[in-house]
Amino acid sequence: MNPAMPFFPERASSVAGEVDALFLFILSVTGLFAIGIWIALLFLAVRYRRRSDADRPPEIHGSLALELVWTLVPLALMAVMFVWGAKVFFQLNRPPDDAMQVSVVAKRWMWKLQHPTGQREIGELHVPRGRAVRLVITSEDTIHSFFVPAFRIKKDAVPGRYNIAWFRATKTGSYHLFCAEYCGTEHARMTGRVVVMEPEDYQTWLAGGPAPESPVAAGEKLFTELNCVTCHRPDDAGRGPVLLGIFGRPVRLASGEEVVADEAYVRESIVSPAAKVTAGYQPVMPTFQGQVSEEQLIGLVAYIQSLRIPPAKAPAERGGKSR
Ligand code: CUA
Repeated sequence: MNPAMPFFPERASSVAGEVDALFLFILSVTGLFAIGIWIALLFLAVRYRRRSDADRPPEIHGSLALELVWTLVPLALMAVMFVWGAKVFFQLNRPPDDAMQVSVVAKRWMWKLQHPTGQREIGELHVPRGRAVRLVITSEDTIHSFFVPAFRIKKDAVPGRYNIAWFRATKTGSYHLFCAEYCGTEHARMTGRVVVMEPEDYQTWLAGGPAPESPVAAGEKLFTELNCVTCHRPDDAGRGPVLLGIFGRPVRLASGEEVVADEAYVRESIVSPAAKVTAGYQPVMPTFQGQVSEEQLIGLVAYIQSLRIPPAKAPAERGGKSR
């Protein structure tokens, strides 16, 4: 095989083998059917061609057995594709709990990445081998798409939204990163690479360079600077809900609905606070749309995410709606 133009990209993540197996299964089934249909078509066209102007074939009244076969066999094959596909889909969309979190901000025409410890990179992402990496992906301008063929992951970067992808790299090396959504003039050059290192080398890499500010620390600082802390007090006496321990838990809204306080919810509550107001509170919070950048938003979300507390010390929820 010519290494410059491989038939398949390298398999360098834990899901790559499963994605390929499913792909090859679907390709073989559809390929074999396509070949079978072409052969049958040619055979029937020749065998039953019109031999004279007065050619009248005998009438046929159908065959139940034949109809059952051509209905049930494809149905069974499709059912296998569906169940198998769903299994791989869920695997691709459910990052393990112990994953390290990397934020990805796309911008014409670059990828801005930040490690949980605060290191920032542009167009290049260093990760340890064997460790699950959860990507929180967003965009500052238009839609881009984060695509690493060797990991078999591709996820759109959409302005105003957090999309989640994850991977566990299995092989050290350098792998292509592409933007897979046409985003303007320099789209084709919006590339980069993911460098997979041995865990020790990754630690060394992290330790090199000046000690950066982690997203959590940056978020905490901003939380004070923007005076969020005057309303979101830790003691339940503020005008806004207590944020301690809120992340990842269900929130009862004024509308009666219940939502889980995930990244998307926290982000929305900062940029359009009136959209989903917590039950028991007034919609008095001003919007921070335009006042904080995507990267600052990620810091704020990371800070709120860090306010987890052990379950035993969780405060009683307001309004007696605890669960
Ligand atoms: Cu960014 Cu295409």
